[in-house]
Amino acid sequence: MNFSDLREILHYVPQFRGRTFVVALDGGVIDSTDFSNILLDLAVLRSLSVKVVLVHGAAAQIESLGRKRGIPLSNLDGTGTTDEATLEVGMDAISRLGNAIMQSLTTVKIKAATANAVHAHPAGILKGVDTLFTGAVERIDAGVLQSFLDEDILPVVPPLGFDADGQILRVNSDAVAREVGVALGASKILFVSLRDPRDETGGRVRQWTAEDALGFVADRPDLPAGMLSKLRHAARATRDGVARVHLVGSRTPDALLAELFSNEGVGVMVYSDAYQRVRAAAGGDVDELYLLIHRAIEDEQLIERSRAEILSSIEDYIVVEIDGNIVGCVAVHPDPASARAELACLYVKRGHTGQGYGATLVAAALERARQRGCREVFALSTQAPGYLVREGFVRCDDLGILPPERLEKWERSGRNAVLLSRPVSDAAAK
Ligand SMILES: CC(C)(COP(=O)(O)OP(=O)(O)OC[C@H]1O[C@@H](n2cnc3c(N)ncnc32)[C@H](O)[C@@H]1OP(=O)(O)O)[C@@H](O)C(=O)NCCC(=O)NCCS
Repeated sequence: MNFSDLREILHYVPQFRGRTFVVALDGGVIDSTDFSNILLDLAVLRSLSVKVVLVHGAAAQIESLGRKRGIPLSNLDGTGTTDEATLEVGMDAISRLGNAIMQSLTTVKIKAATANAVHAHPAGILKGVDTLFTGAVERIDAGVLQSFLDEDILPVVPPLGFDADGQILRVNSDAVAREVGVALGASKILFVSLRDPRDETGGRVRQWTAEDALGFVADRPDLPAGMLSKLRHAARATRDGVARVHLVGSRTPDALLAELFSNEGVGVMVYSDAYQRVRAAAGGDVDELYLLIHRAIEDEQLIERSRAEILSSIEDYIVVEIDGNIVGCVAVHPDPASARAELACLYVKRGHTGQGYGATLVAAALERARQRGCREVFALSTQAPGYLVREGFVRCDDLGILPPERLEKWERSGRNAVLLSRPVSDAAAK
C-alpha cells in the first residue's frame, strides 16, 4: 500500500461515521474460514463509528442438519415451500447458528443481541403452490433495532419472521436484509456470499444503477439463484432509499474493507446516488488534475503541461470523478477558425482503467466539441492511437488540417505523434 491509497481510504472515514450498514452473510460464509476475517472487518467498522446490523442466512446449515437427521427438505433458502418438517429443522439450525454467531462476536469483543424484528405473513399460494410456512416480510421493527444500535449493541437478525398469531415463518435472508436496510434508512447493504460476484456476473461493468441491474438480471436468467436474488433485492433497496448495495465474495482477502475503502471496490455495486459523474473541470481541480496526469507525462504518454497551463485553459477540461475523487480527464481545445477541436490529455488513472471511463470521457469530449460549434475532432497520440481507433477515430496523414500554431508545436516537440480524427457525431459522418 502506498500513501495515495491511504488518502483514498481516509477520504471515506468521515463519510461513513455514524452511518448504518446492514451486513448480510450467507449461511455458508459463517461456516467457512472466511468468517474470522469478516468478524475483524466488522470490528474495524464499529471502531470507525459505523452502526452495523448483521442479517444472516442459514441454507447451508439447514441442508446439513436435514441430511444428518435424514429428513427430506422442501426448501432451503426461504423462497419456496417450507413444510412443517423443514420449518422444524430450520428453526433448530437457525437457533444453533445464532448461538455460534454470538460466541464468535464475543471473541472480537462485540456486544451483540439476537433481534426478533421481522414481522411476516404467510407468503400464501405462489404460482399455484401453497408455500405453507414460508413468510413474506411485512414490516421490520426498526425501533427495536435502533435501540440496540443506540446502546452500541450489534443486532443479529435471523431469517425467521413472526405473524400476528405468533406463528414462526421461514423468510429469505436477502429479503430481510433489504427490508432492514430500508426500515433503518441504512446507507449501505453488503451482501456477502462464498461465490465471487464478479466471476459470476462476468463482464467489466461492476457498478450498476437499479435499472441496469434489473436489465442485466432479465438478460441473464441463467445466473445462480443466489446472485439473481441479491441483484433483484439490491435494485429494489436502492429504489427504496438505500444509497448503495454491495455484493462481495468472502474469499477475497479483506473483502468488506477492500470493497468499502477503495473507489473501485472488489465486488459488484448497485447504486442510487451520484457515485460517479462526468463534469466540467473548475479552477479548484487544477492541483488534483496536475497530480493525476503527472505520471503519464513522465511516461511520455501525455505532453508536458504545467499547472499554469492547465489553469489557463481549465474550461476546456472534463473530468470523471468517483465519490468526489477525480480518476480521469480529457481536454477539448476548440479552433473556431477550422470548426475543429483537439481532443487532448485523455487519461484514466491506473487501477481504474478497463471500466469504460476512457470511452465515457471521449463521448463527453465529442459532445463538448459539438456544443462549441465544431464538426470534427482530431487527436495527436504517440501511445494510444489504437485506443482512439476503437473510439471511431481514423488515422489521417494530412497534417495540414492542424491549426498553424498546433502544427508548429507538433514539429517542435519531435514526438512524431500520429494524427487521428473523427466527426463529432456518427450522424455528422454521413
Ligand atoms: C487509453 C486510456 C485513456 C483508456 O482508458 P480506459 O478507461 O481504460 O478505457 P476503456 O475502459 O474505455 O477501454 C478499455 C479497452 O481499451 C483498450 N485499450 C487501452 N489502452 C489501449 C491502447 N493504448 N491501444 C489500444 N487499446 C487500448 C483496453 O485493452 C480495453 O480493451 P477491452 O475492452 O477489449 O478489454 C487509458 O489507458 C490511459 O489513460 N492511458 C494512458 C494515457 C494515454 O495513453 N492517453 C491517450 C492519449 S491519446
